[in-house]
Amino acid sequence: MLTLKAHVFVDTNRTIAPISPLLFGGFVEHMGRCVYEGIYDPKSPNSDTQGLRKDVLDALRDQAYTIIRYPGGNFLSGYNWLDGVGPKELRPRRRDLAWQSIETNQFGTNEFMGFCKAIDTAPMLGVNMGTGDVQSASDLVEYCNAPIGTYWSDLRASHGFSKPHNVRYWCVGNEMDGPWQVGQLDAAAYGKKALEAAKMMKWQDSSIKTILCGSSNDSMATYPEWDRTTLEIAWEQVDYLSMHYYAGNKANDTASYLASAVAFERFVDTLDGTLRYVKAKNRSTHDVYLSWDEWQVWYKGDPLQGNWAEAPHLAEEIYNLEDALVVAQWLNVFLRKSHVLKIACVAQIVNVISWLHTHQNGLLKHPSYYAFKMVSNHARGESLDVLVKAPLLETKQYNAVPALDVSASFDTETQKGALFIVNRSQTDSVSTEIVWQNGKSVQVDAGWQLAGNNPKEVNTWDTPNQLVAKSISAPAVNSGGTSLILPPLSFTTLITHSV
Ligand code: AHR
Repeated sequence: MLTLKAHVFVDTNRTIAPISPLLFGGFVEHMGRCVYEGIYDPKSPNSDTQGLRKDVLDALRDQAYTIIRYPGGNFLSGYNWLDGVGPKELRPRRRDLAWQSIETNQFGTNEFMGFCKAIDTAPMLGVNMGTGDVQSASDLVEYCNAPIGTYWSDLRASHGFSKPHNVRYWCVGNEMDGPWQVGQLDAAAYGKKALEAAKMMKWQDSSIKTILCGSSNDSMATYPEWDRTTLEIAWEQVDYLSMHYYAGNKANDTASYLASAVAFERFVDTLDGTLRYVKAKNRSTHDVYLSWDEWQVWYKGDPLQGNWAEAPHLAEEIYNLEDALVVAQWLNVFLRKSHVLKIACVAQIVNVISWLHTHQNGLLKHPSYYAFKMVSNHARGESLDVLVKAPLLETKQYNAVPALDVSASFDTETQKGALFIVNRSQTDSVSTEIVWQNGKSVQVDAGWQLAGNNPKEVNTWDTPNQLVAKSISAPAVNSGGTSLILPPLSFTTLITHSV
């Protein structure tokens, strides 16, 4: 093992943008065991009076989610929201075509609102643009947000909710470019439908924010033309463009996989350019930002079809250390791109493509759970444009990349800062000198590290604490610098304050 040398220059005056709190969001879909046996399990002794799993709620609170997207996903495009409200015994059992599963509708919009309250997070709802029409989208906004006194708001009151839910964030459909989507549309048809739906939804409640479906991922044949076309049509009625992306190491090329931040940044940069282009072309004064509302590692090949079962085991990926280091880089990219990226939701928050798994009496946390927690709990204020001078590592997919992937935040109100550093090297430590450049005296208050020897290492039900974020002793600051050795395959967070 070698020790490489690097410098990280941090200047709290060199800011990128305020960090949107909504970057630390999640996604709940009626898919597999995310809702049933995940967040909602009324038969479990671990559940509260609403049927919500208390151990899951605690873990979600620990991760400090700020917004949760619901109810899908591909599920959304065949979903009639009316099936999921009103007396539970009258709700229909339906075939969900997206995941070939049985949907009992025992959990719906109002139960989701109760869940959001329980973990103190904002709801983000989707309207069906597959089998749904613009009228049903508008009706759902009225059902959720209008004061009582009209047909849909009175229906809500009759279901036990006289006060409006005041849902602010609304996805206008899901992945409407994908042939796998129920009711797929071409870009012009979707752009027009989304424009009309968003217009009616905003006429129902002018305070809402709408999210247009962007390309399902950057390998779609229609990317980024889909994004340009739909934006040009719907621009004035939408506030965000959605991004979806799932990463993976199918080729078992860990060096390239650990450079995934390059691909994430490229995806944001292209869409950032597309937003600027459309704003100029449309001669608009309105701004549209990015909402990365599905992101996660997903490639291990678990089943995706439920054979018409209720809550089947679907896409229950087991995440290892290298996956966690990719998640850490994703979060670094969120901070580095915070000028345009304002919402992000990890897909999904429990059981389905998730770092949290339930069984009847327990909860398993995969290593990436800790990577998310380290950032979501500490990135506050503004993101900083950190200068990194680190040796380069060769990769097949992305050529040479720096051994360190870094982001930082600083909150001028509290004078607290945070630094997030991934060492991508699989073999070498990096002796790192952090240079605090703002002229103030900086102190490191605390630090955590997630690290291991083998990129394929996992937590199991028998060894659940193999890979957790461990507290490290706060390194000293001497003459404006802090030295620390970053082990290979590690993610380190340092918390600072300036005086
Ligand atoms: O999150 C799982 C699925 O991935 C979602 O339903 C869909 O939007 C995406 O393809």
